[in-house]
Amino acid sequence: MSNELYAVVGNPVSHSKSPRIHSLFACETGEPVEYTAIQAPLDDFAGTVRHFFERGGKGLNVTVPFKEQAWTIADHRTPRAEKAGAANTLYLDNAGELVADNTDGVGIVRDLRDNQKVPLKGARILVLGAGGAVRGVLGPILAEQPAALTIANRTVAKAEALAHLFAGEAGAATISACGFDQPEQPFDVIINGTSASLQGDLPPVSANVIGPDTVVYDMMYSLQTTTFNQWALDNNAHRVFDGLGMLVEQAAESFYVWRGVRPETASVVEELRND
Ligand code: ATR
Repeated sequence: MSNELYAVVGNPVSHSKSPRIHSLFACETGEPVEYTAIQAPLDDFAGTVRHFFERGGKGLNVTVPFKEQAWTIADHRTPRAEKAGAANTLYLDNAGELVADNTDGVGIVRDLRDNQKVPLKGARILVLGAGGAVRGVLGPILAEQPAALTIANRTVAKAEALAHLFAGEAGAATISACGFDQPEQPFDVIINGTSASLQGDLPPVSANVIGPDTVVYDMMYSLQTTTFNQWALDNNAHRVFDGLGMLVEQAAESFYVWRGVRPETASVVEELRND
């Protein structure tokens, strides 16, 4: 069988680990998947997507800065993409219409809950940041039924807007919004979804949010311990994780959406750590 074509679209995109991850999935599952990286011009994402599917491409992942555009140009959105306001996965349905999905939220939940065995049900969770990355994961996190979810952000109004947007999905959970200076009690789980570390910054949150049992998850990843996770370790967090597991899990979910086959992820995470 000849290979079917998939790709990640971004700008820049050369740093993306997605081609490596999906090649490992293809090897592991025997699926006939060829996966490349495409740099779209900043002013022609839609044209790049159209051209890819016209050439017979089967599916796309979408990364910075096009996730919101991917959501906008789609003919249909899955419910989880609809709420996320952004899409990282595109494909054509049987009628040839463009469908947008978002697998980021499932990715972080699978990594925390299944791989790291961190219970989210009943947990008190602090989420730092209120941008696109955080909006993309709030639905699946709330679906785990935490006891409380606090969104803290530099621009408090954006945290408040997200708390309002997701209030209907909170179920029995208390959902609240505040600035970084407000939380002072330890949380069970802290998720850093700010882009502060891209500038080598830390969100200025009190070290009192970390207790002896606190698990910290930085949605960023890097070869070395991330700036945020180092700060958490310096303040005696119980365990810290970076976003590599989330990256591999969102990729696995996209692979499943496209191929109907769910790859095993642990060995892929290990391969990437050793790259
Ligand atoms: P992304 O797609 O990564 O979420 P974004 O939508 O631009 O990007 O959101 C970036 C998030 O990181 C926001 O919550 C932003 O705070 P503001 O909403 O106040 O802008 C946060 N952020 C970025 N740089 C930061 C910094 N130096 N300190 C704290 N928070 C920062």
